[in-house]
Formats: sequence, structure tokens, C-alpha cells
Amino acid sequence: MTEVTRAGTFQLGSRSVTRMGYGAMQLAGPHAFGPVKDRNAALSVLRAAVERGITHIDTSDFYGPHVTNQLIREALHPYSDSLTIVTKVGARRGNDASWHVASTAAELESAVHDNLRNLGVDVLDVVNFRVMFNLAAPCEGDIEAPLTALARLQDKGLIRHIGLSNVTEKQIAQGRTITDIVCVQSMFNLAYRHDDALIDSLAKEGIAYVPYFPLGGFSPLQADALSHAAEQCGATTIQVALAWLLQRAPNILLIPGTSSVDHLQQNINSVNLHLSAEVLSALDSIGSPKK
Ligand SMILES: NC(=O)c1ccc[n+]([C@@H]2O[C@H](COP(=O)([O-])OP(=O)(O)OC[C@H]3O[C@@H](n4cnc5c(N)ncnc54)[C@H](OP(=O)(O)O)[C@@H]3O)[C@@H](O)[C@H]2O)c1
Repeated sequence: MTEVTRAGTFQLGSRSVTRMGYGAMQLAGPHAFGPVKDRNAALSVLRAAVERGITHIDTSDFYGPHVTNQLIREALHPYSDSLTIVTKVGARRGNDASWHVASTAAELESAVHDNLRNLGVDVLDVVNFRVMFNLAAPCEGDIEAPLTALARLQDKGLIRHIGLSNVTEKQIAQGRTITDIVCVQSMFNLAYRHDDALIDSLAKEGIAYVPYFPLGGFSPLQADALSHAAEQCGATTIQVALAWLLQRAPNILLIPGTSSVDHLQQNINSVNLHLSAEVLSALDSIGSPKK
């Protein structure tokens, strides 16, 4: 058993993944755009993640664009059978790093082929449809047409499993009438808890919830209660934030991002941290769960 597997595994359809995963987004340039700052360091982090037992890597061809997928391929291809690479489609980047919707059937097909080519695979393990009605938060809107287009690509054998990103409960329900949804990826962390109720309902259905920005993303998590809890536990604030997510619900899968092997190891070490009821209650005061 590796340290990573102490946090357990979760079934994404036919793929078993470690609950402690790795998010590759920030390996591209600033704001996930442009070339990697330190290519060798990025390749080392990706190799270290897999060597230390992580079997879930989150990516997209719109990071760079193409940069993170090409790094993953260079570092890890040919892939171990146990590795699951989860990618996203539904957006494209402008030349100024801006984000745009790319969800017509033709755009989705082209994105799937970009991911296949850049990752060097014949079939994508999991593809999340990233909903872009609002870049920063889920927003109601019909997803039938793009999801039907993705399900067709799944029927053609190009995609094993489909997930959704940045979605509402209504969109998940709509998605599930079109195809099986194995995971939902949205912003959630100690301080941003809009999906509290959703996480619990997905847990009952056996669907994974994968919080993005688990450490606050571009604005690191900071709170007195978090610093105090870290002191009490003899851990870092980041380890406490990750341990809190692992304890929050069994269907939560972690994909913290880092460009440093040391940080990767610190993040992995959070699987050894057990937060007491008293610490959990203090940490719960940081966010305001949506009732
Ligand atoms: N679906 C979506 O719309 C969406 C949106 C955003 C992100 N994502 C996915 O979610 C993943 C995670 O998000 P993220 O990487 O943006 O944010 P994050 O995991 O919340 O935070 C990453 C930041 O934390 C720092 N960090 C990580 N471990 C650390 C440690 N032990 N000590 C100190 N600093 C540490 C990293 O800096 P260092 O490099 O210096 O360690 C990096 O700046 C991404 O990789 C991506 O795959 C999805």
C-alpha cells in the first residue's frame, strides 16, 4: 500500500482512482496560458505523482493551450494501465488568455481529437463537459445539445466516461437523462461551500465530486481558524484544507495543483492527518454552507 492509497480509492465508472489525485492546470504559464516556466520541474512533478501512487490526473487541452497535455505525454507515456487521465472540453482560449465557449458539436469533436492526439491515446478515460454560461460559477442553461454530441463521441469509442464541470443540480439531472455522469467538478473549498448539499446528494448516487481550487486556486486560502487548526494538528494550513475535504465526504476526490515535488509530497502527507470533531467544527466556521 502506498501512502496515497490510505485515503482510499473511488470508482469513476470502470476506472478505479486514488482519492488523492493531481491537477495539472498550473503547469502551463501564468493563468494556465502559454509555455511552461520550468519544463524539467514540471516533468519531475508529473513523474513523482505517479511514482508516489497517484492514479488520477486532471488536465485539459485548453491549459496552455495544449501545454499540460503535451507535458503529461512527455512525462508519462506509455501510461500505466492504472492511471486515469481526466480531461475537459467546452472552452477555448483567445490569444490574450481569455476564455470562450466552444460547445458546438464540431468544436467538441475537434477538442476530443486534440486531447487524443496531445495525450497520445486512442480513447479518453473521462471527459468533463465544462459548462461556460458563466465562467466563474454554475448558471442555469440547457446542456442537451452539447452533451448529446459528446455522448455520440462516447458511442464511437473515443470517450470511456463523461463528467460535468461548473454545473447546477438541474443540469446534472438533465445530463443523466443523456448519458451516465461519473463525476462533477466545480469550485469548492473550506471557504467556498456553495455545493455542500449537492456533494451529499451525489454521494448517495455514487457520483464523484471533484473540487477545483481546493487550496483557493489563484488566491490561497487564509483564515485565522485555519492557521489555528494547523498549529493544533502540527500540520500546514494546506494539509488541513486537504484533510478537511477528504473527511467532508467519501465521494470527494482531490486534485490539488502544484509545480513543486516538495509541495506534492506535503499534499500527499495530508492523507495521514485525522481532524478531530473539535477541529472540524472550528474549520466549519470558515465557510458558510448554503442551506
Ligand atoms: N473545471 C474547472 O473549471 C477548473 C478550474 C480550475 C482548476 N481546475 C482543476 O483543478 C486543479 C486544482 O486547481 P489549481 O491548481 O488551480 O488550484 P489549487 O489546487 O487550489 O492551488 C494551486 C496553488 O496552490 C499552491 N500549492 C499547492 N500545494 C502547495 C503546498 N503544499 N504549499 C504551498 N503552496 C501549494 C500551488 O503553488 P506551487 O506550484 O508553488 O505549489 C498553486 O499556486 C487544476 O490543476 C485543474 O486541473 C478545474
